[in-house]
Amino acid sequence: MCGIVGYIGNNAVADELLNGLKNLEYRGYDSAGIALNDNKKIAVFKASGKLANLKAVLHEKNAKNCSSFMGIGHIRWATHGAPTIENAHPHLSNDGNLVLVHNGIIENYKELRQKLQNHGVLFHSQTDTEAAVHLFAEEYKKCGSLEKAVRNALPQLKGAFAFVIMHHAEPDKIIAVRKNAPLIIGCGKGENYVVSDIPALLGKVSRIIHLNDDEMAVVKKDEVIVKDINGQIIQKELEKVDMVADVISKNGYAHFMLKEICEQPSILRKVMQAHVQKQKICLDDAKIVVDFAQVQKIVIVACGTSLHAAMVAKKVWEEWLQFPVQIEAASEFIYQTNLLDEHSLVIGVSQSGETADTITALKLAQKYKAQIMVLTNRIDSSIVRYASSVVPLNAGVEISVAATKSYMAQLAAFYWLGLLMAQKLNKISHDDWQQKLQSLIQLPEKIEEVLSHQDNINLIAQKLADYPAVVFMARGFNLPTAYEAALKLKEISYINANAYPAGELKHGPIALLDENMPVLALFEKGETAPKLLSNCEEAKARHAPVIGIGGAKCSDIFDAYIETPEIEACFSPLLLCVPVQLLAYFTAKALNCEIDQPRNLAKSVTVE
Ligand code: M6R
Repeated sequence: MCGIVGYIGNNAVADELLNGLKNLEYRGYDSAGIALNDNKKIAVFKASGKLANLKAVLHEKNAKNCSSFMGIGHIRWATHGAPTIENAHPHLSNDGNLVLVHNGIIENYKELRQKLQNHGVLFHSQTDTEAAVHLFAEEYKKCGSLEKAVRNALPQLKGAFAFVIMHHAEPDKIIAVRKNAPLIIGCGKGENYVVSDIPALLGKVSRIIHLNDDEMAVVKKDEVIVKDINGQIIQKELEKVDMVADVISKNGYAHFMLKEICEQPSILRKVMQAHVQKQKICLDDAKIVVDFAQVQKIVIVACGTSLHAAMVAKKVWEEWLQFPVQIEAASEFIYQTNLLDEHSLVIGVSQSGETADTITALKLAQKYKAQIMVLTNRIDSSIVRYASSVVPLNAGVEISVAATKSYMAQLAAFYWLGLLMAQKLNKISHDDWQQKLQSLIQLPEKIEEVLSHQDNINLIAQKLADYPAVVFMARGFNLPTAYEAALKLKEISYINANAYPAGELKHGPIALLDENMPVLALFEKGETAPKLLSNCEEAKARHAPVIGIGGAKCSDIFDAYIETPEIEACFSPLLLCVPVQLLAYFTAKALNCEIDQPRNLAKSVTVE
């Protein structure tokens, strides 16, 4: 995904664009660029890499002296074409008059490119976006109006897009249009913004307009007019920005990731207060229209960390509800036979609510008439449109690309939903219900205890940083925690981490073990613990350094151990995810990695 900012108003345009892009940097950081519409021409400035590189270019080229009242900016997560300056946005038409930034993918760009080239249009990049800028420019030549040109070109584009477009001959307006990619208009006094996400508007405006698919906004300094694809005006409601500027500050932490890990107890407390009233579960802020008694099949679709949260839900719900739950990577779900009907409940889980694979999976589930629920941290996101039931995660904005607090919030939401269903379906006794509630209530304090052991975890991480690869293993409820631990370590430290069910090690992966391959074992209470300990012995016998995580240390064979407070096995994924998040964080820190913005990644992946 990429980040887009457009500005029209009296402030210094380049500064406004840079400021907005800074707060969207979590969306991509392969390249950055801005275009300013000044009196003489459209001036475009680009740099590969992070925003800091663009700032240097702007400084060198004295860009801030441009007398401009409007401009557009972009940060890119590369899909088509390497992260070079040529491929960076904004993209300019060959006559130098029309310029645009784009988030999404133009699926038919090859055909469009060929067609335009046949008409003599020159291309300068490998991007899909360039086909759009030349298409708009060709349409402009025919009608001489930016608005009309965009409207005429849109039916020729297939795929997902959010475009912000300017034309040199129309220096009073920015055109914004979207389909399957987010765009928000920020409305100020004598100035207006167009952005991909609200953080870019914090401290700037307090009123916004959410643009929907197939809507086009003509954004001027003093007015915003939204029209449908046929040019009919649509009356849009001005909404209040309900996010505080604090969310985009590190608040004294070295990285957003550490801040977000440490926020987890308070997020759980807040959610708990909202969800438990008079000893009853009230998911008041959720909209749940499912009649659980009619549900014959539950399928959860998600990607990455959200998929790991779904895996935990499967284990917990199957035990609590005695009901089969199917988990699918959303990217696979779309290409397989799915036996769904109106008695199926398909649950999509997505922090961002913009993940293309998960959205496509839900669109497919809609075709089978399945009931659809989403769990998302962004109730203003695209995914919500495909669901009749919506459960907000309430984790607050997550800036670090590596998901931590949103994973915790997803787990918590699954546990609350599990309890709600168990109650509604009479699958739980009053005493058991009380006990489970207590476990959830005590959780924040236990997490705080884990957070207080950061020094020990940091010491272990310093050693882990010396190894090129590690193995995580677990049995039971924490197998998904092991997958999540491996993902977290991989994505921010680039150490090759893999996770296995501990019993599977002997069926192959054990061949990897020697003194250079640490094994990290995640322990939970119950019958799996002694078996897992035997697996640790097996690893030790192959000279692998063995690190234990969870509960009280149960043997002397460990080279290092991270103790966690006692907790019932089924709730332990909520606790054990914290030390593995910290371990990944401190390992990446020891290796001097870019923790909040790991290479090649973006916060959410809006392409399939
Ligand atoms: O926004 P989503 O939850 O749909 O995102 C899914 C994955 O892309 C995401 O969890 C990814 O794996 C993170 N980088 C994990 O830290």
